[in-house]
Amino acid sequence: MSNGRVITFGTFDVFHVGHLRILERARSHGNTLVVGISTDALNMDKKGKYPVYTQKERREIIASLRCVDETFYEESLELKGDYIQRFNAGVLVMGDDWQGKFDDFSDLCEVIYLPRTPAISTTEVIEKIRL
Ligand code: CTP
Repeated sequence: MSNGRVITFGTFDVFHVGHLRILERARSHGNTLVVGISTDALNMDKKGKYPVYTQKERREIIASLRCVDETFYEESLELKGDYIQRFNAGVLVMGDDWQGKFDDFSDLCEVIYLPRTPAISTTEVIEKIRL
């Protein structure tokens, strides 16, 4: 099923090494990595707050990485199947905080959950700076 095209999704706010590592590992499951960056509106809708960095800034940072080939804005969580097809992805990579949640897409592509980098998250970085 794999055609070398890998897709993953996230907010990637206040970029940190956990983000870098999952993107590098995602890329190693193929030869092209496509990253969906959740929009500011989607974050407001789902988490009730805007990210620290705007979607344009977050996308610019992700797009500049060596391991990333294409980026797009993820406007709705319900459109994952559409994005997988639109970007012709053979593999969907998600962090294991989503373990099992995307198994339904396995008729469209291979679904892989990768372990998160321990002890770091955007939320924790923001908390640390606040203190
Ligand atoms: N991620 C990871 N290891 C971490 C943090 C995040 O592998 N320590 C992965 C997530 O599993 C996801 C991607 O990075 O696939 C984007 O995660 P995101 O939710 O944007 O980052 P978090 O740091 O988890 O943000 P928050 O604290 O706001 O939940």
